[in-house]
Amino acid sequence: MADGSERVGLQINEVSDPLELFSRWMEDAKLSELNDPNAMSLATATPEGQPSVRIVLLKRYDANGFAFYTNGESRKGDELRANPRAALCLHWKSRQRQVRIEGSIRELPPEDVDLYFKRRHRMSQIGAWASQQSRPLSSREELEARTAEFEEKFPGEVPRPPYWTGFSVRPERIEFWQERDFRLHDRIVFTRDPEAEWTRQRLYP
Ligand SMILES: Cc1cc2nc3c(=O)[nH]c(=O)nc-3n(C[C@H](O)[C@H](O)[C@H](O)COP(=O)(O)O)c2cc1C
Repeated sequence: MADGSERVGLQINEVSDPLELFSRWMEDAKLSELNDPNAMSLATATPEGQPSVRIVLLKRYDANGFAFYTNGESRKGDELRANPRAALCLHWKSRQRQVRIEGSIRELPPEDVDLYFKRRHRMSQIGAWASQQSRPLSSREELEARTAEFEEKFPGEVPRPPYWTGFSVRPERIEFWQERDFRLHDRIVFTRDPEAEWTRQRLYP
């Protein structure tokens, strides 16, 4: 492999806690991915079942949820409010690994979103005001003019726009995929029962 590490198979008995395995794989990815090891595809769907997918950055995770931040009035925001279920997919090319996560959606509490917003670069904060994410924009100049307008409006601390928010996916199913020779890949899926206990199952590749 590019970084000289071994492509180690996934042993089903190796781990009983999927969060522990996820954390190990994320740490591996941080060492070897070119950029954004925390980039993940986020799939949402309308109540009628029309899916849509885009990349967002995973900012925090534990057994309660995988969190990301966004504009709540965007297409994904609308879909998540109308149909609070989502799927995530991370692909680490440098490790030939994929993780798929499915579960229910919860909007993060305002205190949490405020904390995260405060830590962002000033111009990203201004951008959050300037961008009406996912809605039509007549020209690049309009976006630049709105940016300048909010820079002037907020010379000091930039407050969080009321629509800027975060969501968390509570994992109910987590699948780990490790590439192996001749497409005989390893797939191990963890599913959570109503008592929040994980069971694991190997799947055909
Ligand atoms: C590497 C990468 C990271 C991104 N991270 C985020 C993010 O954390 N939050 C976000 O709202 N959009 C992020 N985006 C932009 C989204 O992919 C998308 O264009 C935007 O959120 C609008 O999506 P929507 O119209 O489906 O709501 C990212 C894009 C890329 C390529």
